[in-house]
Amino acid sequence: MESIAQNPWAALAYLVAGVCFILALRGLSSPATSQRGNRAGMIGMTIAVVTTLVTHVPRIAPPCPTGAICENYGTPVLDTLTLVELLAAIGIGAAIGIVTARRIAMTAMPQLVAAFHSLVGLAAVLVAGAAFLNPGAFGIANDGVIFLQSRIEMGLGVAIGAITFSGSVIAFLKLNGNMGGKPILLPGRHVLNLGVLVAILGLIAYFTQDQSPWIFWTVTGLSFAIGFLLIIPIGGADMPVVVSMLNSYSGWAAAAMGFTLHNSAMIITGALVGSSGAILSYIMCRAMNRSFLSVIAGGFGGDAGGGASGAAAVDRPWKRGSAEDAAFLMSQAEQVIIVPGYGMAVAQAQHVLREMADKLKAHGVRVKYAIHPVAGRMPGHMNVLLAEANVPYDEVFELEDINSEFAQTDVAFVIGANDVTNPAAKTDKSSPIYGMPVLDVEKAKTVLFIKRSMGGVGYAGVDNELFYRDNTMMLLADAKKMVEEIVKSLD
Ligand code: TAP
Repeated sequence: MESIAQNPWAALAYLVAGVCFILALRGLSSPATSQRGNRAGMIGMTIAVVTTLVTHVPRIAPPCPTGAICENYGTPVLDTLTLVELLAAIGIGAAIGIVTARRIAMTAMPQLVAAFHSLVGLAAVLVAGAAFLNPGAFGIANDGVIFLQSRIEMGLGVAIGAITFSGSVIAFLKLNGNMGGKPILLPGRHVLNLGVLVAILGLIAYFTQDQSPWIFWTVTGLSFAIGFLLIIPIGGADMPVVVSMLNSYSGWAAAAMGFTLHNSAMIITGALVGSSGAILSYIMCRAMNRSFLSVIAGGFGGDAGGGASGAAAVDRPWKRGSAEDAAFLMSQAEQVIIVPGYGMAVAQAQHVLREMADKLKAHGVRVKYAIHPVAGRMPGHMNVLLAEANVPYDEVFELEDINSEFAQTDVAFVIGANDVTNPAAKTDKSSPIYGMPVLDVEKAKTVLFIKRSMGGVGYAGVDNELFYRDNTMMLLADAKKMVEEIVKSLD
């Protein structure tokens, strides 16, 4: 009987699925082509799942390594599930997925993503553990002696999977608010982390010579610990990079599973997720002005004081405006730049915001949108919401393309954004967001800030000095309600 890996039709189908995934990534790189990208991804996933179902036959042992005596080569070694059992498992997973997707608020997406990453990590640990306990069933051993190549794959797979699992659980707890966003800085944490990493790599090397259970389980335990240690020192404002880094780890964990299960589709998909996650992390590091290496090492940015502790200083003088004031100022402007942030997502104000922009354009005002790479709570959060409201793509600009325009702009309209406009990132070394490039909204003639209260702070938990500037007018209300009022006033 043929194995999946040896069936040429299955290999071809997996290759086609891999090409679809690459086209999906290509499409998702721009809002204009993202729907096409999504379709390519869905087709690829359907091909991969159907191929796996059709070819779910008992696997035979892989080719015998040179020099080894492989008695079981060519014999079925895996008791596969029946088609009914497989479909039942898919049905249960799909039901959980549909209920979760319907219930989850857009604003809770980052913690959902972190939770999904943790499941990928756990799956990698379970696959590696099952393969270790019963290597014959996976066709990776002869007389109980696991092949060298498989020991390396299992060692790396269980380590990456365990790091992904515990790191993602901590990221979930932080993003979900079950754990404070403030960094937890253990004394000597860099030495401790380095020591644990070296121990894990040393034990994996030893595992290639000796397959004693204590080595395998110690690697697993230490990897769970290092995932935990790498994420706890990371402060709230740096979580976006962590989420994309864990995304990358989960891809490599899936690729490791693919090696253990001899499944080329999993290897291809895992490598694509792993490398695209790493590229995204690199882009986010640049956007946040962080070093890529220090992210991988963990605890970057953790030395900055403050964390999520500073509350807004409400006792300083500030100017309050009304919807009518805002409508008047914007209708008189030549150019308005809209800066959306997390508050727009919470209020779901994107549709009425577009209505407001349409009315301003009808008044002859030039309207642009400025997107900060970490505005909101997930990469591309603002782009998705604006696309949902059919905002034309050519009005939406990235930070580096629009920042120089604020100085020639009459009104910067900040809707539920805070940290991404905070000049403390440029000036205050003790701030947790120090070093992150920010949108220079204060350079506009007038800045309108929509938020609900002067006491509320952004994700990084620090006050924003812009609220008290002479050219700032605070519009205190829920973003959707305030923009609805502005639209009425524009009428
Ligand atoms: P934040 O700094 O979090 O500020 C959000 C603002 O919205 C607050 O001023 C809040 O003030 C206001 N707000 C909340 N609900 C509102 C509502 N219903 N109506 C009106 N205003 C409302 O947001 P940002 O500027 O978008 O910055 C993003 C932050 O999240 C950064 O620190 C970033 O590092 C972090 N982060 C980003 C990501 C990704 S990948 N994008 C992931 C995790 C964390 P009130 O409470 O007073 O209304």
